[in-house]
Amino acid sequence: MAQSTYRAPKGTEDLLPVKARAWEHLARVAQDLFSRYGYEPIATPLFEATDVFVRGIGEATDIVGKEMYTFLDKGGRSLTLRPEGTASVVRAVIEHHLTANGQSAKLYYAGPMFRYERPQAGRMRQFWEIGVEAIGMGEPTLDAEVIVMLMRFFAAVGVPSERMRLLLNSMGDERCRPAYREKVASYIWKHAGDLCEECVRRAETNPLRAFDCKNEGCRTVMAGAPLLRDELCDECAAHYAEVRRILDAAGVTYVEDASLVRGLDYYTRTVFEVQAEGLGAQNAIGGGGRYDRLVEEFGGAPTPGLGFALGFERTLLALEAAGVEIPAPPKAEVFVARAGESAALVVFEVTRALRDAGVAAEMDHQGRSLKAQLKVADRIGARAVVIIGDDELASASAVVRDMSSGVEERVPLGEIAGRVASAGGR
Ligand code: HAM
Repeated sequence: MAQSTYRAPKGTEDLLPVKARAWEHLARVAQDLFSRYGYEPIATPLFEATDVFVRGIGEATDIVGKEMYTFLDKGGRSLTLRPEGTASVVRAVIEHHLTANGQSAKLYYAGPMFRYERPQAGRMRQFWEIGVEAIGMGEPTLDAEVIVMLMRFFAAVGVPSERMRLLLNSMGDERCRPAYREKVASYIWKHAGDLCEECVRRAETNPLRAFDCKNEGCRTVMAGAPLLRDELCDECAAHYAEVRRILDAAGVTYVEDASLVRGLDYYTRTVFEVQAEGLGAQNAIGGGGRYDRLVEEFGGAPTPGLGFALGFERTLLALEAAGVEIPAPPKAEVFVARAGESAALVVFEVTRALRDAGVAAEMDHQGRSLKAQLKVADRIGARAVVIIGDDELASASAVVRDMSSGVEERVPLGEIAGRVASAGGR
């Protein structure tokens, strides 16, 4: 076969049918589950004014500092391919007044996100996320509800619970976090000699990010850093305790991880992450948290918010590592084969009638021999083949062959759809 030199860009991949179907499956499970929790779909543009992400995610984050696909359009506007969904959804919620007059919004979305990261297993430049945002509700029951929903999602797609770990932390709020940031910054200065340059620089810009450094030396030093857990104000401590109490009552297993800070600056209070076994360094299959200041940051009225996103590629890797397969339906249940030229139109009509009757049916469009058509029928997993040739045309009937037993019977043309549909237990 002739080979083109064109390739999908680095860090992106084509979702060929098997993977695209897996994506559809996950999106369908999410839609079914999330709608039972009261979530409605939303779709925002794949690009936004750059400032939406700079303001939303935070200037000092890796995403904004290093990973955004930013470009000027022909009108000279700075636009950015969305690196995540939260900032866009919050922008849309404010723009369309979805939380006006004390209303709340529960929204979910699914689609590609773009980050200029160094590609490796489970880390793509274009990756697929499914996410939810619940805006306008501050009660800890919502935090617990969202976490339960995320864990139910992973269970529903088949990630075994013993291969997942739910990490939980509280990031405090604008009352307790600033003083804590200062404490961490001083700690970093004090241990500057044992930390990497980037972590020392972070003391200025975003000290909490030093907890996320992958460098072994930095991890050891940061293990001794003051923890926000010990510095939370009374309100944040009470909120966090309540979230844990509800999760405990719901039987949700979690690990408190006081160093879980997540890579986005908008978080306040509850943050969580789900890690899966067998994925190497990129083991976070989903994560999220509260962002009670973000709506205000965008110029809206003070409105709490909370959400999560899960990564499609990493969820698939987690399923693969656990040996779980996503069920693939057969391409067609019935193949309608043509034996001889004259049956073409009847084959077309029978195939159409089967499809109209709700049966996945396929026919040949390449002029293959009967033998070749039967091979195709076998390959695509058809459980029955309808064969129509000159004899069958003359008697207005067809031969229906059961592919597993090999049993054949002659069926009048008008009865094929009903017969085939009932044979499969439909
Ligand atoms: P995030 O943790 O940056 O959060 O991304 C969510 C998930 O997307 C990750 O847990 C991971 O599975 C997947 N992911 C992230 N980056 C990549 C990548 N380069 N390649 C493959 N998968 C990746 C957010 O995006 C927040 N917006 C979540 C949120 C919603 N927080 C509140 N509301």
